[in-house]
Amino acid sequence: MAIYFEEQKKIFEFHTTNSTYLIGIAPEGYVGHIYYGERLSGRTDNYLLRMEEIPFTPSVNKREKLGFLDSFPMEYPTGGIGDFRESCLNVRNEKGQMGSELFYVSHEIYDGKKKLEGLPASFGTKEEVQTLELLLEDPVLGMQVVLSYCVFEREDVIARSVRIVNGGSETLTLEKAYSACLDMDNEAFEMINLCGAWARERHIQRGAVRCGKQSVSSARGESSHQEHPFMALVAPGTDQQRGKVYAMHFVYSGNFLAQVELNQFDSIRMVMGINAEQFGWVLSPGESFQAPEVILTYSGEGLGKMSRSFHDFYRNHMIRSVYNHKKRPILINNWEATYFDFDNEKLLQIAREAKRCGIEMLVMDDGWFGKRNVDDNSLGDWVVNEEKIKGGLKKLVDQVNEIGLEFGIWFEPEMISPDSDLYRAHPDWALQINKREGTMCRNQYVLDLSRKEIVDHVYEAVAKILRGANIRYVKWDMNRLLTDLGSAHLDAAHHQELFHRYVLGLYELQERLVTEFPGLLLENCSGGGGRFDPGMLYYSPQIWCSDDTDAIERLVIQEGTGLIYPLAAMGAHVSDCPNHIVGRITPFETRGHVALAGTFGYELDITKIPDEQRVMICEQTKMYHKYNDLVREGDYYRIASYRENHKFDAWAVVSKDKREVLLTYVQVLAEPNKRSRKLYLQGFDANAYYRLEGTERVYSGGMLMYGGFLTEVLEGDFVSRLYHFVREEQA
Ligand code: GLA
Repeated sequence: MAIYFEEQKKIFEFHTTNSTYLIGIAPEGYVGHIYYGERLSGRTDNYLLRMEEIPFTPSVNKREKLGFLDSFPMEYPTGGIGDFRESCLNVRNEKGQMGSELFYVSHEIYDGKKKLEGLPASFGTKEEVQTLELLLEDPVLGMQVVLSYCVFEREDVIARSVRIVNGGSETLTLEKAYSACLDMDNEAFEMINLCGAWARERHIQRGAVRCGKQSVSSARGESSHQEHPFMALVAPGTDQQRGKVYAMHFVYSGNFLAQVELNQFDSIRMVMGINAEQFGWVLSPGESFQAPEVILTYSGEGLGKMSRSFHDFYRNHMIRSVYNHKKRPILINNWEATYFDFDNEKLLQIAREAKRCGIEMLVMDDGWFGKRNVDDNSLGDWVVNEEKIKGGLKKLVDQVNEIGLEFGIWFEPEMISPDSDLYRAHPDWALQINKREGTMCRNQYVLDLSRKEIVDHVYEAVAKILRGANIRYVKWDMNRLLTDLGSAHLDAAHHQELFHRYVLGLYELQERLVTEFPGLLLENCSGGGGRFDPGMLYYSPQIWCSDDTDAIERLVIQEGTGLIYPLAAMGAHVSDCPNHIVGRITPFETRGHVALAGTFGYELDITKIPDEQRVMICEQTKMYHKYNDLVREGDYYRIASYRENHKFDAWAVVSKDKREVLLTYVQVLAEPNKRSRKLYLQGFDANAYYRLEGTERVYSGGMLMYGGFLTEVLEGDFVSRLYHFVREEQA
């Protein structure tokens, strides 16, 4: 049992393998946060709620209710009645007054976990997860709030979500409905976030938490390139192996807020949820609203343990694709090879050459439909362009299959070009504000996915193509942000719902897709990694990490992404040089080693590269088959960070049974006075011996971790090595 209720003291206890979380009920029914941290055993208590201290609790001294509300550590704070820290729930009544207050009513503890209506969410069997549902009520509004805590004991994760039910008789308007809150005393915490831009997504950023509020957020309609729905608070000095970490990650693909607030009493409030900016939801009597899920984890052993908890959790309880634990086909994508300039003959040439090198799938990217030879037209017209693909799609797919490759295809289903038959037929299908010219981005508008008939149309257009040929993979792209938030079918009261309704429409589309085509390998993408989040991971086991495929840029992007996401979720390809984004020239070998830390594939014109590189592709595809099981299923250890040291990067993947370790080392910049570099490895069995493959060297695991491993002395910039250690049978 992971969840207990201590009836007498009214304490809920959640225990995972390495952590404990305690919730207490104050005499009036307020639900307070007592503790989250190292696993506790034996009797617990609620003294950390400080209910005996001034300000007294309202039942003892009603005149001090405000002081109480302003400092009590709340599990789910509400706005308008005296808690001046960030609230999680703001509700307006019919008179327009904002205020609510929640009291404990009852609870239910059960094995397993329920689905969240219309939303992606984690899953688990009755043996893997236990759920506590706390039912709270605002007696004045007649509103019920159900706080769900799903405890995944093995992965040290608590998945939280919130459902708000209007059980009263007046219409309520939610102006804010976050999903999770963590109130704690400050410990000089530092905040870690992932920030970036197009082509440099998810760079790790760390800084002190200061008085007031600090947040990351998106109001762009997607989780975004710029900021990420993730936040970790860490104690000072926390590194990969040591220190306290509290982390939240949001299972949502639209606007979000992740915020920490340090207040007057040196306590911290960390919240996460749908961004309240441009959000509102009208709840008529009897209706309910489901807020998305937040994945919460605590690590007492630094960031490395946090990463491994997230990785295991996502692999075991979020990615539902049949490909989750399978080797994915090595693909070659024609985007950087041809851009829009291709036809069936060109694709077949690529396929033939790719087959010779061990590549397993051809992906036809943008430009195969409508009359699309540049990016200013045809989105929405998902009909093959027979001037390019002569004889039609099925013929091409069959020919590629005959060569021995599987076939994949690109779509951008959420979009509409003004120059398209679809737009000419349905100009009101684009998001647009009454009488205002739409803001253009990449020459396209966004379809109004809040409308059922549009979702149906888009689904059928995509599904028709997939039904018509043997297509095994879809790259689902999304290349602009949401603006002009206007929908032809929403009235004034409901317009604030549009951002969220759009995301629900997107989820419905992907749900239908993976239901009708369960064997399809879906890769989400948004101008590179603009919508890389756990919500999308629920539908697609891999997401294109970034349009920046330069091996050195990728070190930082993949370090940030790997901080939370399993390596097999990161779309990574070897591309041509000079790199199309930064113009850098890196060795082909290094490009292969860096892409091996992700899904692996190619993004180049294989018919035009030098012969030596084609030979290397043959070697690299073999390397992928040799190491992919380890990379996909193993434990990830960050050994060194180029972002921090500006010289080199290193990471390792260790098999769960610790029999095998693959270390990747990249020397980014060469230095004078060359010496080997010492890397303190992690994750080995200290008492076992490991042979370094290809050598006679045998090391003890302890020596490698505490004494260090010496790399080869390498010449030049941007060079890399893989080191494969295999445990010796004898002790
Ligand atoms: C986006 C993607 C690219 C490519 C282009 C096609 O930018 O990230 O990989 O598919 O669209 O237009």
